[in-house]
Amino acid sequence: MSEPLLQVKHLATEFQTEQGLARALDDISFEVNAGETLGIVGESGCGKSVTSLSIMRLLPKPAGNIVQGEVIFDGQDLVQLPADDMHNIRGNRIAMIFQEPMTALNPVYRIGRQLGETLALHNPKMSKSDIRDASIRMLERVGIPAPERRLKEYPHQLSGGMRQRVMIAIALLCNPEILIADEPTTALDVTIQAQILQLLKDLQQETGMAIIFITHDLGVIAELCDRVLVMYGGRIIEQADINTLFDKPGHPYTRGLLKAIPRLDQPPKEELSTIRGMVPSLFDFPPGCRFQNRCDFVQERCRQETPELETYNDGQQVRCFRFRELVNE
Ligand SMILES: Nc1ncnc2c1ncn2[C@@H]1O[C@H](COP(=O)(O)OP(=O)(O)OP(=O)(O)O)[C@@H](O)[C@H]1O
Ligand SMILES: [Mg+2]
Repeated sequence: MSEPLLQVKHLATEFQTEQGLARALDDISFEVNAGETLGIVGESGCGKSVTSLSIMRLLPKPAGNIVQGEVIFDGQDLVQLPADDMHNIRGNRIAMIFQEPMTALNPVYRIGRQLGETLALHNPKMSKSDIRDASIRMLERVGIPAPERRLKEYPHQLSGGMRQRVMIAIALLCNPEILIADEPTTALDVTIQAQILQLLKDLQQETGMAIIFITHDLGVIAELCDRVLVMYGGRIIEQADINTLFDKPGHPYTRGLLKAIPRLDQPPKEELSTIRGMVPSLFDFPPGCRFQNRCDFVQERCRQETPELETYNDGQQVRCFRFRELVNE
């Protein structure tokens, strides 16, 4: 087996807040292999974005800090890397796209300039006409019609789906080995969402890049991912390949998420099942398992001790004392 492309080891990230230190990530470990798509799923606030911002070293400063752990990429620990070296990796070898393209695109620059500056930054010797040609080719590749004309337009002149394609184009200009996509389709309507997912799949086939795809939607995960991390309250509570996750979800939380997916092949139920209760705030987690107040299988032990993330068959990892009983039901 070749080395994983990226290894996140025991990562912990904290924010300084008015209420004190908030530990947004607690002992996160996972790997990304070359060419694969890893999904990260979980409800709002579970730490999906903080995970990607920690990897990219883009945490809001000075409040956000990685306080423990390593992010090994190409033999080096990104957490310890000098800022200049990290700058070279970011956008070049690891690129990121966001939910709302307007936050990543500059509203006062034409599309052509935004693509051109990215290219020039990473290829200082490139001529103006080469930059223009490469920009047009990239817009074509992400399915933007009439790219010559688009180069002269401003972001606000494009539809949401087209803006998302431009952001993907910018992210891909430097042939990243890893693309981190943080909910890139949630703001789009379902048809456009499906087109963007297909585009990412096609681009991955062409380039062989790995994708870390972040979403709260297990339906999207099913479309796209080879492997999935399920996060809850800043911890990984399950990690499995896509078939295992859907066939025999291990953690009660994962089961709850799966039940909440609307199924097109079944008559609609009166009400979509959702997981009861709410995620506590980072300051209110009880000792023991963080899911205990919402779990149908909770026992006394779950309130006292924190379960470890244990590895079972097929490499499935589950953080639950009752996993063995539950799978044999
Ligand atoms: N700048 C910040 N200051 C303080 N706490 C923060 C900050 N950014 C994030 N957090 C906290 O870290 C936790 C994880 O947030 P994160 O943004 O990673 O959630 P998420 O899983 O991406 O949620 P969503 O699905 O809503 O995007 C939350 O409890 C959040 O309140
Ligand atoms: Mg987020």
